[in-house]
Amino acid sequence: MRKGIFTIGAAMVALSLGLTACGGESGETSAGTGASASPGASSAAPAAKGKVGVILPDSKSSVRWETADRKYLEEAFKAAGVEYDIQNAQGDKAAFQTIADQMITSGVTVLAIVNLDSGTGKAVLDKAKAQGIATIDYDRLTLGGNADYYVSFDNTAVGKLQGEGLVKCLTEQKAEKPVIARLNGSPTDNNATLFKQGYDGVLQPKFDAGEYVAGPDDSVPDWDNAQAGTIFEQQLTKEPKIAGVLAANDGLGNAAITVLKKNNLNGKVPVTGQDATVQGLQNILNGDQCMTVYKAVKQEADATAKLAIALANGEKPAATGTVKDTETNADVPAVLLTPVAIFKDNVKDVVADNFVTKEELCAGEFAAKCTEAGIS
Ligand code: BGC
Repeated sequence: MRKGIFTIGAAMVALSLGLTACGGESGETSAGTGASASPGASSAAPAAKGKVGVILPDSKSSVRWETADRKYLEEAFKAAGVEYDIQNAQGDKAAFQTIADQMITSGVTVLAIVNLDSGTGKAVLDKAKAQGIATIDYDRLTLGGNADYYVSFDNTAVGKLQGEGLVKCLTEQKAEKPVIARLNGSPTDNNATLFKQGYDGVLQPKFDAGEYVAGPDDSVPDWDNAQAGTIFEQQLTKEPKIAGVLAANDGLGNAAITVLKKNNLNGKVPVTGQDATVQGLQNILNGDQCMTVYKAVKQEADATAKLAIALANGEKPAATGTVKDTETNADVPAVLLTPVAIFKDNVKDVVADNFVTKEELCAGEFAAKCTEAGIS
């Protein structure tokens, strides 16, 4: 199992853009927590040309954006000695536009966005393009947006791992004709569509064969974790025999687990997740969550930084593949990385990969559970 995590996706290897390695020298001229850095003259690293702007979506639909993406992007830009500005729209579409306008005015040469929906994302990409700024869709594809590049994970593969993971946990329980509830991601996120394609591809044949029963199937607007709790409560009221929950990420999964706990059903009803968050991993160690999907965000950030730096230098970097924009039918040059399924027995791999620390995962009551899971 280890292999999956430590293999740098073939995509990454092929993406050799001739970026000069800067050794251990990082342009740490900015405060660690600051939103922007200008590692110019005072930096020992040869400063790359241009300036990269990144707009993250929020900090509530998943903790990943602030705990992982910001950190790894900062590290990658600092190591390359490129000027950057990373901001978070906090789920506010108007703020997203304002941040983009400010970044464009401030002279970014590359803009990477995680859209809040395709319509508002496209407006930003169009403005940037009109100013000759190179554009990258980071993690979420902006349908109709025509970004120059897309960097993400293979999101259908993510969903497939979730579907297969749920099947694995139900098989281990010897569940008979389990009723499956689905808590899908935001209907405005193209990734949620792809995750669903992935897990429905696993579940639908089971429904068709009468092995599993299709229960409630709802989308969670904006991936709102609080709303997910309300939605799952309604699902369970409507269908008290729910025996498995396909939740599209750890936040939605935790919302379902909270409701299951109130009904003394936690640990009996397997729940899936995504993002390998500390909370999700702890739910797995507790036996309340069946699995999560680990996406090595460091790889995603590194790939984005390499592209951005090449673009800032006026190069036309090669992508490793393409994805179809289903709205325009265009093939968008893309770098897609490989996700990994995490169950109790390989939670340790996420720690070994430094995505979460032992200190945060194994605090307090989790110390013993970590030891049990081989995290030492
Ligand atoms: C990302 C997931 C994340 C979700 C909610 C998706 O687009 O791929 O990693 O959990 O958004 O933020």
